[in-house]
Amino acid sequence: MTVTVLFAAGEALWPEYAPHLRVAFAGAGLDAALVTEATPGEVDYIVYAPGSALQDFTPYTRCRAVLNLWAGVERIVGNRTLTQPLCRMVDPGLTEGMVEYVTGHVLRHHLGMDRYIKGAPGWQQIVPPLARERVVAMLGLGELGLACARALKALNFAVEGWSRSAKTGLDIPAHHGEAGLEALLRKAEIVVTLLPRTAETENLLNARRLAWLPQGAVIVNPGRGALIDDDALLAALDSGALGHATLDVFRIEPLPEDHPFRRHPGVTVTPHIAADTRASSAARVVAENIRRGEAGEPLLHQVDLTRGY
Ligand code: NDP
Ligand code: OXD
Repeated sequence: MTVTVLFAAGEALWPEYAPHLRVAFAGAGLDAALVTEATPGEVDYIVYAPGSALQDFTPYTRCRAVLNLWAGVERIVGNRTLTQPLCRMVDPGLTEGMVEYVTGHVLRHHLGMDRYIKGAPGWQQIVPPLARERVVAMLGLGELGLACARALKALNFAVEGWSRSAKTGLDIPAHHGEAGLEALLRKAEIVVTLLPRTAETENLLNARRLAWLPQGAVIVNPGRGALIDDDALLAALDSGALGHATLDVFRIEPLPEDHPFRRHPGVTVTPHIAADTRASSAARVVAENIRRGEAGEPLLHQVDLTRGY
C-alpha cells in the first residue's frame, strides 16, 4: 500500500529535498507519495524541521513517526500535541561537516593562527605546543561529540569527554557528573560544546564553571547558544580569564546586529553554519526510518521526549 509522506519542513527546503527523498524512497523499495499538502488523517509520516507551520500534531492520527531534519530537537520536544514517535537527524554528511568545523577551529586556536593572519609585528617566535600536550574537553559524547573527539584524537590532541551517562570502554577518556566536569574543565585549554539544549544543559557554562578553566582557555560552541551564560562569557573574556570564544549558535538567531558578541575582539561569530544536514545523505536516513516503520522494526534515532534529546 502507498504510504503518504507529508513534507512539512518548509517551502524553502522542498526544492532541494524532494528529488533526493524520491530517489531514496525508491532505493529503499518504498511505495511512497511525497506531498506538501494532505488531509491530516491520511498522513503516515511527517518530514519536519523547526520553524515549520505545522505545530498541532493532534489531527495526524495515522502518523507513525515525525522525522526531523535537524539534529537538535529543542524546538519540538516540548510540543504537547506530539504523541507520535519523534526521530532526530543523524546524518553522515552533517557529522562530517561538524568534524571539519571543530577540527578547523580547534587547530586555529591551538596553533595561534590569528597572530600571523593579523600580521604580528617583529620576529616573535611563539612555537605552539604539540597537540599531544593540549587537553581538549569535548562536552557531549553523542553522535557529533564522539566523532569530533575521535578526529582530534587522530591529530594527537589529549582529548577527553564528558556526558550525562557514565561511559565505559570508549577509546576517549570519559567523565560524567559535576565532579567529572570540574576535573576536566580544570585542565582543558580548549573546550568544545556539543550538547543538546535541555533544562539540564541551560547555562551549563556559567560564571562558576567558567572559572574552573585554566587562564586563557578557548571555547568553541557549535552546540547551542543557551549552553553558555552570555554575560558570564563576556566577563571572562574581558578579564582575560578566557582567551577566545568561537560561537556558531546563539540564544537569538540571527544574532542581533547590536549584540556585544558582534564587536568583541575575543569572539568569533559564525552564523550557525557549523554543520548542515545534507539532503542526499539525510534523505536515505528518512527513507530507512520509513522502511523500518513499515516493517515494524525499531526506528533509528528516536528522541526520548522526557529526557529532551
Ligand atoms: P546526541 O544526542 O547524539 O548527543 C548528545 C550528547 O550530550 C550525549 O553524549 C549526551 O550524554 C550529552 N548530554 C545530554 N544532556 C547532558 C547533560 N545534562 N549533561 C551532560 N551531557 C549531556 O546529539 P548530537 O551529538 O547529534 O548533537 C549534539 C547537538 O549539536 C545537537 O543537539 C544540536 O544542538 C547541535 N548541533 C549543532 C549544529 C550546528 O550546525 N551548529 C548541527 C547539528 C547539531 P549521553 O551520551 O549520556 O546521552
Ligand atoms: C541541527 C542544527 O540541529 O543545524 O541540525 O543545529
